[in-house]
Amino acid sequence: MTLERLDIHSLRNLQPTRWQPNAHINVVYGANASGKTSLLEAVHILGLGRSFRHKSLLSSIQHQQDSLHLYAKVRQKCGASYRLAIQRERQQERSLIYIQEQSVRTTAELAACLPIQLITPDSLRLLEGAPQLRRQYLDWGAFHAHAHFLPAWQGLQNALKQRNSLLKHAKIDPSYLQLWDNELIRYTQVVHQARLAYLEMLQPVFIQYLQALTLNLSIELTYYPGWDKKYEYSDALTSSRARDQAQGFTSLGAQRADLRIRYQGHNALNILSRGQQKLVVSALKLAQGALLTDKACVYLVDDLAAELDAQHRKNFCQLLVQQGKQVFMTCIDAKHLVPMETFSEADVSWFHVEQGQLTPVDFSRSIG
Ligand SMILES: Nc1ncnc2c1ncn2[C@@H]1O[C@H](COP(=O)(O)OP(=O)(O)OP(=O)(O)O)[C@@H](O)[C@H]1O
Ligand SMILES: [Mg+2]
Repeated sequence: MTLERLDIHSLRNLQPTRWQPNAHINVVYGANASGKTSLLEAVHILGLGRSFRHKSLLSSIQHQQDSLHLYAKVRQKCGASYRLAIQRERQQERSLIYIQEQSVRTTAELAACLPIQLITPDSLRLLEGAPQLRRQYLDWGAFHAHAHFLPAWQGLQNALKQRNSLLKHAKIDPSYLQLWDNELIRYTQVVHQARLAYLEMLQPVFIQYLQALTLNLSIELTYYPGWDKKYEYSDALTSSRARDQAQGFTSLGAQRADLRIRYQGHNALNILSRGQQKLVVSALKLAQGALLTDKACVYLVDDLAAELDAQHRKNFCQLLVQQGKQVFMTCIDAKHLVPMETFSEADVSWFHVEQGQLTPVDFSRSIG
């Protein structure tokens, strides 16, 4: 799957842009505040319906403009192509999303067309942030690996919402509560099994990438399902019922799951240097991309040089090249920060961005 064309209108400081990127590696370089991250943001919005910088797309709309428009043509591995479009008006509550000019309501449909792996200096939050971020990471993989994951996940969210609203009432009809318990148990089993199956696939690939990035530490990924593993979820839910009623919400379940990243029995975060943490995050992201064999994904790598020294940047870029996926990476100074020797000339395109203007650059004349 490859982004063949990208049109950007009224996103942050970017000039109206029509971009025909390379099917493999695209390096965008330019000074601070030139618009590099905004270009990656455009791709991210097209793949997920939202920015990675803010919850609301409103701050992404260019000042003095009423709306932003993004359009992409995506070529699938099978040869078919998709046209994706997003429009966000300042005055509207939500974005309008179109696939093949048909309006769609959920961003899950976009995610299926344009899977994205994002690596930014903020990605370290995968280790240090709330469990929700690691759950989302795991669920991204389970979503792309198992077709039955999404409906089960949506069913689970609905059952949880219904059960929680019931728990807030002073008087609860036990048979009605049991009904939602049964729904919750049914969907939890599917989500839990899909997460477990995905993690089993992920573990060995993650270790391979860690080693390839020369981090030879025995980092372990362990999965907390959201309740004590010794028990079936149905038993855990029954035994927590009185507490749930007192608190007014469901305290145990897949909504509490976590992927724990451990080193020598401790939270890896407390022991690894920031550079090592960045390698762990890179290995996690590369492993997810590698497991996506039938669809492929686009890598967005913002600020390649952040936290990685020259040797680790080189290893990382070599692994990206080996995967053969489409990559958009940014850096301030292409000449000094990108290990050019890792890319063959046909595999890479260079783009300079200055005051929101994107210009293709002839590799040999301008950088060499
Ligand atoms: N809504 C907006 N409208 C217009 N300009 C904006 C908007 N939001 C941010 N900007 C400006 O867009 C410019 C580009 O920001 P961006 O984060 O893309 O730069 P960058 O090249 O990634 O910089 P850095 O190297 O510092 O990370 C900045 O000057 C920023 O202030
Ligand atoms: Mg930036």
